[in-house]
Amino acid sequence: MARLKILMAPDARLKKVAEKVEKVDESIQKILDDMLETMYAANGIGLAATQVDIHKRLVVIDVECDENGMNKKPLYFINPELVKTSDDLNVYQEGCLSLPNAFDEVERPATCTVKALDYNGKEFTMDCEGLLATCIQHEIDHLDGIIFADHLSRLKRTRMLTKLEKSKKRKEYSDEIFQY
Ligand code: NI
Repeated sequence: MARLKILMAPDARLKKVAEKVEKVDESIQKILDDMLETMYAANGIGLAATQVDIHKRLVVIDVECDENGMNKKPLYFINPELVKTSDDLNVYQEGCLSLPNAFDEVERPATCTVKALDYNGKEFTMDCEGLLATCIQHEIDHLDGIIFADHLSRLKRTRMLTKLEKSKKRKEYSDEIFQY
């Protein structure tokens, strides 16, 4: 397995719409393995392929793993689709590995049903609630070129992206830990 470099916003590549996976083979599984390793190394709970500059509809999530790397329960989603979302909404303080040190409240459907292919290419549906529901919606957004800042008011989004752009220039955060 290998760690991949995570794109940092603002970056035009984060706006690309990812393509559907036509065949789940070893090359896809290798990407999923690398994405998972990258996500754990960065202490994230979710990662979309878009964030590592691979524009295929792939997502990995683990909302169970603690900060010591215990209780790992990885979930793999290939071509995930929201087939149902609740009318009632939930607000979470969201963050993102592509937007370091930026957090804000985002309102999304509280529960959702996702249809996807698993690691072996088998179709499944999953009812999601709580943090998992928020996380999968956040990750599917990435596949469609949307970051959580896009859900904020224009003022808040501009402020957040300007701050990120500045810290990127100052190299406040190092890319090193995300590289091989
Ligand atoms: Ni994200």
